[in-house]
Amino acid sequence: MASGKGKVTVVGAGNVGANTARRIAEKDLADRVVLTDIVEGLPQGIALDIGQSAAVEGFSARIEGTNDYADTAGSDVVVITAGLPRQPGMSRMDLLDKNSEIMTTVTEQITEHSPESIIIVVSNPLDEMTYLASAVSGFPKERVMGMAGVLDSSRLRYFIAEVLEAEPASVDAITLGSHGDQMVALPGNATVDGRPLRELVDESTLAELFQRTRDGGAEIVGLLKKGSAFYAPSSSAAAMVKAVLGDTKEVLPACAWTTGQYGVSDVYLGVPASLGANGVAGIVELDITEEEKAQLGEAAEAIRSKCRELDARR
Ligand code: LAC
Repeated sequence: MASGKGKVTVVGAGNVGANTARRIAEKDLADRVVLTDIVEGLPQGIALDIGQSAAVEGFSARIEGTNDYADTAGSDVVVITAGLPRQPGMSRMDLLDKNSEIMTTVTEQITEHSPESIIIVVSNPLDEMTYLASAVSGFPKERVMGMAGVLDSSRLRYFIAEVLEAEPASVDAITLGSHGDQMVALPGNATVDGRPLRELVDESTLAELFQRTRDGGAEIVGLLKKGSAFYAPSSSAAAMVKAVLGDTKEVLPACAWTTGQYGVSDVYLGVPASLGANGVAGIVELDITEEEKAQLGEAAEAIRSKCRELDARR
């Protein structure tokens, strides 16, 4: 890792990318933030705008926008948000074809210019795009991961807090599996102010909370009518950048390469991962039920079969 706090590139200057760059800069997580996009002027304009907030917000990170990957060279972390967002009625999987082309091109550029970087994928369909970035880059698996679990878990924590009129940060809850219909919620592991969630809400409320979380992205797509969520996704991506650049080893739910944990191997899947300077430092195996383990296995199989389709096309 470079000296200081490091350099982060955010690829894609849509709402998720712009806000991720903004959060990283505002929190001074890196000393250099580069926002890149193929649209001329867009990353430059957004970066300038964010930079002009520095004196008011009180941050010192330097932020620049570019259309040239040469400016991203030597990044410690690259967050890939490039790709099309969902429109109402679309599933994340409907984006597979178009976004795989974009992901392939972007990853080739990143691999060339930042060969030592940690890649955090945000584009959808998340689990499959993470696999693709890993395959195209040829990076060690621990250096490529996907952002979804922090977001899904944060949505769940928010919904639980809302129902119980609790502080969102006092809610501890985690989702595993895929960033999609096969998201696995772990009711037995959820607590509010340290009290088991199961003592506080009935099973039907629990089921509703989990379903709303699974549909959390689609609910926002439906409301916005154009584009998808970006505030919570950018917060989640920035939290992962913080753990990596700070080498904190914080355990965050992330899409990571499995090597036998939870009975699953050789597939990118949402699991609790300890994140540090080398990427995924380890996967934590929580105590989960046999049923949850089976659900996780099903999610893994569905992701694996989509990844085989991607392999066949490469
Ligand atoms: C969502 C998109 C980012 O869940 O997948 O909002």
